[in-house]
Amino acid sequence: MPGSTGTEHGRPLTLRVNGTDHRIEVEPRQTLLDVLRETLGLTGTKKGCDRGECGACTVHLDGRRVNSCLTLALMQDGREITTVEGLGSAGAPAPVQRAFVEHDAFQCGYCTPGQLMSAAACIAEGHAGSDAEIREWMSGNICRCAAYEHIVRAVRAAAGETAAAAGETAVGAGQRGRQRAEETAGA
Ligand code: FES
Ligand code: FES
Repeated sequence: MPGSTGTEHGRPLTLRVNGTDHRIEVEPRQTLLDVLRETLGLTGTKKGCDRGECGACTVHLDGRRVNSCLTLALMQDGREITTVEGLGSAGAPAPVQRAFVEHDAFQCGYCTPGQLMSAAACIAEGHAGSDAEIREWMSGNICRCAAYEHIVRAVRAAAGETAAAAGETAVGAGQRGRQRAEETAGA
């Protein structure tokens, strides 16, 4: 086809994942989830339903959570993608990762990467001011083992820790996060 680049089916793009640029080729039909797992070998992001219903595949795209199973890789050229591998490490876990361990917030663990990504965004967005709010804003993430009570406890603890680090109350952090999210949405 005139003007096309790449191989017969592949299209070149740069996927920026966890701060590293990957120059790869993808087929137009490939989802971000499949490219992360199968091309880049980042298997932390899980495939549950593969149709937007469970949240197991949640990653951050330019700081906002998305279901990577519903996101085409080809459209993410140059955007900032964060997966659970970029959230923290074994030696330096993120506050949500520490809280999930401390509050026993997983059983089989299959939904956990998506829950962690959603929890981190939920806190950053300012939607972790109460248990009801946490439940509402984490409702897109399904846990078939039903570890929900522990997950809410962990998110609450991580939100409190984040607020303490910033020298404010969790409710204050929630309000400030919401304000930031609204400003970003309106920008
Ligand atoms: S695998 Fe993406 S929402 Fe279930
Ligand atoms: S811990 Fe098993 S699905 Fe959530």
